[in-house]
Parts: sequence; C-alpha cells; structure tokens
Amino acid sequence: MNFLKRFSVLSVMMLVAVTMMAQELPKVYILATGGTIAGSGSSATKSNYSAGQVAIGTLLDAVPAINDVAYVEGEQVVNIGSQDMSDDVWLVLAKRVNELIASQKVNGIVITHGTDTMEETAFFLSLVTDSNIPIVLVGAMRPSTAISADGPVNLYNAVVTAASPASMGRGVLVCMNGKVYGAADVTKTNTTSVETFQSPNSGALGYIHNGEVFYYHAPDRVGRKFVDHVHEGTLFNEVRTPYFNIDGLKSLPKVGIAYGYSSVEGDVVDMMIDKHYKGIVYAGVGNGNIHKNVFPELEKARKDGIIVVRSSRVPTGATTLDAEVDDNKYEFVASWGLNPQKARILLMLALTKTDDWKTIQKYFNNY
Ligand code: SIN
Repeated sequence: MNFLKRFSVLSVMMLVAVTMMAQELPKVYILATGGTIAGSGSSATKSNYSAGQVAIGTLLDAVPAINDVAYVEGEQVVNIGSQDMSDDVWLVLAKRVNELIASQKVNGIVITHGTDTMEETAFFLSLVTDSNIPIVLVGAMRPSTAISADGPVNLYNAVVTAASPASMGRGVLVCMNGKVYGAADVTKTNTTSVETFQSPNSGALGYIHNGEVFYYHAPDRVGRKFVDHVHEGTLFNEVRTPYFNIDGLKSLPKVGIAYGYSSVEGDVVDMMIDKHYKGIVYAGVGNGNIHKNVFPELEKARKDGIIVVRSSRVPTGATTLDAEVDDNKYEFVASWGLNPQKARILLMLALTKTDDWKTIQKYFNNY
C-alpha cells in the first residue's frame, strides 16, 4: 500500500471513530433567538453594544469544549434583543420545541435568549410543552466582544445541563452564572451584574461545576401530579403545572399589566377596557393592594367581562387570595407566587381555555 492509500484509509478510520464517538454523546439541539449572548460591541471594555448580532455557529465555535459533552446541532429561530420578544415569536419557538420533543431524536434542548425577558419565555414554555427532556434557557450579561464575556461559559454550562440525565423531569430551566433555576420562580434582579438571575422565594435548583450539574432539589411545581395542600382551611387537590396545547393557536388573547404606585389613576385600566383587553394584571403594592383611584376601574373591567388578576410589584412573597381585598366579592383572581409578567402569561393561556374566573383562579392556585 503506497503512502497516499494508507493515508486515506487512516483518515476514513479516524472519521468513523469520531462519528461513532459523537453518536454516543447525548444529542442537544440549540434554538438561537439572539440577546446579549449574541451581542457585539465596538469596545471590549465599554457597555454600549447591540444585542442579537452574532449567529449561533459563531457562538458555538467559541466553545469547542461543548463537543466533548454533547453532539450539538442548532438553528437560528430569530436574532433579536429580547426586549422585542412577542407572543408571535413565543408561538413559533414553542411549536419548534414541541416538534423536537415529538421527534424523540434529542436528549435536551438549549435556547439562547436575551436576559431581559428570559424568565417570561421560560415560564411560557413551561406551560406549553409536555416532556421530561431538559429544556434550558441561557443568555449572557456581557456581549461576545467584551473582556470576560460570560456567554461562552454560560453556553457550555447550559449544554452540560441539557445533556445530563440528572436534569430530566425538572421542567424548563434557566442556566446562568453557574446556577440552574426553575422557570416559575426565576427572575432577573439586577440590570447589569452577571449574578442577576435569582429565585427569591425558593433559591436555585442546582449548580454546575467542572462540566457536571448538581441538584439541591426539584422544582415543586413540576410533574403534573395530584398534590394535596391546605391553605387557610381549604384543601387544594389539583393537577400541578397546568398544560396548554398551543397546536392550533395563531395568537394569544390580549392581556396587559397596570402598575400600582402612590397617586396612580385609573387611566391605564380605562385604556385597556376601551381597547377590549381580555385580561388585566394589576401589579399592586404590598400583597397586591389596589389604590382607591383604580379600584372602581378594575371593578368596571370585571363587570365588562375582563378577568382581573391581582399581583404585586414586591419582588418576594406571594399575592394571597382574599387578603385585604375580598377577591370572592369582586371576582378578582390572586396571582400567588407569580410576578406580574408571569401572571400575564398564565392568564393569556388560561383565557384560551375558559373565561370563568373561578377556574382561572384554580390555575393560579398551583403557584
Ligand atoms: C436582551 O435581553 O436581549 C438584551 C439584554 C441581555 O441579553 O442581557
């Protein structure tokens, strides 16, 4: 065998070996949507940059170690700053996630996303997907061109998390700054720090160390199992984590958020009534309390058939049922542990099934 022949036989053998190794690794599919992780700036040290500039292939090329963890493929769904996230993009993204789940060809899914609305997309996906495989959202606080860009390590950790059997059955996850959080509880708490994501009421679910994910606990709200719990003498026995089938949906009902503050007036609520919103979330003060200037407008909204959900602008704790506000009397719904932006999502999806406020309250009782 001359040198050339021997060389080509060797190359074919190496290619076969590499392909076999790749096939043994878990398959992780990446859906890219943009954000700062795909951002680029003109300076490595200054904070001005544009989100959603760099394609997923370039991000992956920056982290070759990912190929030791999983066989990774991916596609660009959109390339936007997540401040521009919309119900339309959510529906496209969620349908694609559901296709990948149905194909049974992937062990995990990673979604690269801007951090501004990551918690909303994670929560939306947690309500419209029904699978045990890990679905992991990841982003970055610093653009890819910055010194100490956090995107590469976050992306690596997200792939580790999505590829790990330990992540199965934990619902939709957010993986940022070395920690893993559950979709219902996680929120962005700092405008610029890499340590921005927290679950203030329940803490992180786990962490990643040296290419391995470790869990402290499972998110309580995952599993759609029947769970008994008693609150103020009432026994709640319901399926946890509601699931909404979005297959035939082309749009979501219009739901808005009105923010509570001292001297607030009812103008925003009036506008929502005039514009035929189907639901209003009131981001109240304290335990979802409503200013006397706004209360009559919210009562009017309810009488017009609009579902009114009380949530809170306070970052921790739950907005509890029948506290200072008699929800039963006014037919208002309490958001429990959901912040206003997540309450809006559950209300939109609930309204695709029912406009009965008592049934909608039951969905919220799961949080
Ligand atoms: C965005 O949410 O797209 C911009 C901010 C970020 O990703 O950190």
